[in-house]
Order: sequence, then C-alpha cells, then structure tokens
Amino acid sequence: MGNVQIRLSMFPINLNQLRFTPNGRAVLTGVDLELGGEGISVILGPNGSGKSVLIRMLAGLEMPDAGSIHWQGSNAPEGQIAIVFQHPMLLRSTVTANVALGLRPLGLSRCETVKRVNEVLGRVGLTHRAKDSARFLSGGERQRLALARAWAVRPRLLLLDEPTAALDPTATEAVEQIVREIRTDGAKIVMSTHNLGQALRISDDIIFIEAGRVREHTPSARFFSRPHSNEARLFMQGELPWRISFGD
Ligand SMILES: Nc1ncnc2c1ncn2[C@@H]1O[C@H](COP(=O)(O)OP(=O)(O)OP(=O)(O)O)[C@@H](O)[C@H]1O
Ligand SMILES: [Mg+2]
Repeated sequence: MGNVQIRLSMFPINLNQLRFTPNGRAVLTGVDLELGGEGISVILGPNGSGKSVLIRMLAGLEMPDAGSIHWQGSNAPEGQIAIVFQHPMLLRSTVTANVALGLRPLGLSRCETVKRVNEVLGRVGLTHRAKDSARFLSGGERQRLALARAWAVRPRLLLLDEPTAALDPTATEAVEQIVREIRTDGAKIVMSTHNLGQALRISDDIIFIEAGRVREHTPSARFFSRPHSNEARLFMQGELPWRISFGD
C-alpha cells in the first residue's frame, strides 16, 4: 500500500516556462504544460518543433536552461520512468538478456527477474524468440522487445519518441496494442508521432507543439474535430493528403 502511495505521487507533472537554448538557439521557448497521471498523451508538431527535446527532458536526459519540471510529491522519481526511441538500442545478446538488463537497476531476485522477463515477452508475443539474438529481429520485433524491456520495470511514466516511425502498418498496429495494454496496466504514456491516424486511434489528449512552444493541449476528440489554435489547423491541413476544413 505504501508503494502505491509513492507511485501515485509523481502526478500531476507541471512544466513551467521550460526553455532550451543550446548555443543561444531557441529550441524550447517557454513550455507550460500539466500532465495528469492517466491515459495516453500524444505530442504532435512539425519536424524540429521540439518534441524529442521535450521527451528527453521529461526523462531527465536533457536539462532546461530555464524553467522547471515539478513532480508532485518528489523531485526526482527514480525507477518510475522508462523511455523507448524510434531506433531502440539493443544488446548484441539474446532477447531475454535485453529485457533482464533493463531490470538490473531494480535489484530484483533472480527468480523475480525470470518471472518478469517471461511475462513481458509473452505479452509482446516474443516468447518463441527468447533465446534468439536480438540482432536478428525484424524492425517490428525489435520495437516490441524495446517495449517489453520498458514494461518489465513497471514504469509509472512511459515516454515513447516516434516508436513506430520505421514500421509497417501491421507492426505499427501491434505496437499500438501493446502501448494500450501498458496504459491499462497503470502507466501514464507520453508519445510523439508523425502519424495522425495513430494519434487519432490511440490518444486521450493531444499536445500540439510548434516552434518550441505548446500551442494547445486538448482532449483528442476535440482536437481532431476542431483544434483551437491556428498553428494546429495549418499543421493538420498540411499533413493530411486531402483538404480539410474546420468549418470556418
Ligand atoms: N542538444 C542539442 N543541441 C543543439 N540543438 C539541439 C539539441 N537537441 C535538439 N536540438 C535542436 O532542437 C530542434 C528541435 O529538435 P527535436 O529533435 O526536439 O525536434 P522534433 O520535434 O523531435 O523533430 P522531428 O519531428 O524531426 O523528430 C532541432 O532543430 C534540433 O536540431
Ligand atoms: Mg523527434
């Protein structure tokens, strides 16, 4: 029960006037955002708008030049955040070893480690590849392995930076299904994508970022029927292969 209290206490996460200006270049120019502890938030925005930087900052991999990230109840939630990139870094070892490596910092018993590895490999459909080298996996399998490695640590916050950018529709669908299951398991998901169909299928809310600023943060249904920022409308009109009008 005490553990549950700790796990719930990191939300909401408040980002206040986050700025990132490497070598004086304005990359994030003042990001204000509140992230609740439930659901799947999808970050949309043009190339170079700052989506990956924002995700890396949430993971603690990049430090802001100004502003703050306030985690409710704690300053640095350790072991509760996992991140998966477009091209996952995998060990040149077995599928099993890759998942077990992610668990090492948790200091679990050998028995618990084996149990968790087997469980997540089953859930991502890789049990039959457990003893194979990760080098020989397809792109879709590699991404499922990366998700398994993240899922095994039972993160409270899972960050995904364009996890399906290099995948075909079938592999993409498999990843989306896994992400939904991780959400159902109780993780908050924050994910970037350039795939508007995916954003529509999977998101509860949309964070639209443009030129280093959050232009809107809107429930998904509302965003796709009528985004309220002009920047988001122009972005959607540019991304979709057909003309779209939002009724004005
Ligand atoms: N450490 C850094 N030093 C200097 N510039 C950086 C650094 N990290 C990111 N940038 C720059 O910040 C801008 C935003 O980068 P970011 O990778 O966040 O964009 P993005 O929205 O993820 O784009 P994409 O859709 O192409 O993935 C880019 O112009 C990038 O070159
Ligand atoms: Mg990016």
